[in-house]
Amino acid sequence: MTSPSQLTRVALPLPRIGGAPTPPADMPAAHADGSRALIDRYGRVARDLRVSLTDRCNLRCTYCMPAEGLDWMPTEHTLSDEETIRLIRLGVERLGIRQVRFTGGEPLLRKSLEKIIAATKQLRTDEGVAPTIALTTNGLGLPRRIEALKEAGLDRVNISLDTIDRELYAQLTRRDRIKDVFKAIAAASEAGLHPVKVNAVVMPGVNEDGIVPLARFCLEHGAQLRFIEQMPLGPREKWRRDQLVTADQILDYLREDLELTPAREPRGSAPAELWEVTSHDGTLHGTIGIIASVTHPFCGDCDRTRLTTDGAVRNCLFGNSETSLRDLMRAGATDEELMTAWAGEMWAKLPGHGVNDEGFLQPDRPMSAIGG
Ligand code: 5AD
Ligand code: SF4
Repeated sequence: MTSPSQLTRVALPLPRIGGAPTPPADMPAAHADGSRALIDRYGRVARDLRVSLTDRCNLRCTYCMPAEGLDWMPTEHTLSDEETIRLIRLGVERLGIRQVRFTGGEPLLRKSLEKIIAATKQLRTDEGVAPTIALTTNGLGLPRRIEALKEAGLDRVNISLDTIDRELYAQLTRRDRIKDVFKAIAAASEAGLHPVKVNAVVMPGVNEDGIVPLARFCLEHGAQLRFIEQMPLGPREKWRRDQLVTADQILDYLREDLELTPAREPRGSAPAELWEVTSHDGTLHGTIGIIASVTHPFCGDCDRTRLTTDGAVRNCLFGNSETSLRDLMRAGATDEELMTAWAGEMWAKLPGHGVNDEGFLQPDRPMSAIGG
């Protein structure tokens, strides 16, 4: 008898160059022009595209990467501007995407960021409007680019800041750059990119004591602070489930200094639970969000699809499934084939991220290469 391996070697035709993978049999067919919605088996529709524009970063946050950095992706592996824009165009014009968020690594390290944003802002969604464009950044170098970014079409920014203590910031990020982050928050606010959001990851025994000072700082500067439960994404020894600072604990810390009432805004697919806050001394008011990714996962409302720096579509931050649209593109795939492959990846989205399951395994890519 001929063994399957012999057959493979001698008899099978080569796969068609440029052909997209076969879509799952139960996936609904596309419209006649190849356009479709990015839906999954559980009825969720992806409207929010997160694009990682580089895996590099000018900080070295201890929960994200080692002091020496990671093995950065060679340039030829990363999507070119044209390839990136082609995929964003398909997403927005033909796959139902309405919001595009640029992330990294540090997206400001991508020199062509303004150009990519401008090209994205030219597009029209299925509702006939330009997509909303947001940026998740560590803020370094933001002030000198903020006007050009806004001009290009940037609508909103999220700036990462885990502490307002200069020494702790320098320890945590391994760079003494906190003043640049303060300037970035001020610049984003002056440029009118409201609400300026500040993201803070809470780490056990590291910045718990700084929760209230950070909250006061953001309230004073009119920024909307969002505390994020630490997720198992960075160096493995940096995350222990039994040591997680939970959303409930963060709220308890905040209540020491602030009056909290739930904000009336419906949460929808937004991950942050919002609170209206007033300081006990009555001097500060504002809104604070808590993102309880681990203790109250919002997977059932997830509307995200992700594009990695090297052009793979992922249906979740976690999970190890992805489809390389870059390889298809470089093999000559048509727009229709790319859309089918993208939709196929989304169709396979699991109901939840599984972080709380016994056998949970961290994704095999670092967060900086997936895009936050
Ligand atoms: N858990 C939660 N948030 C994280 N970020 C980076 N790593 C983690 C993690 N393990 C945050 C960054 C930034 C955004 C991109 O994601 O602080 O705000
Ligand atoms: Fe850079 Fe963000 Fe990672 Fe910090 S968390 S090292 S800012 S990519």
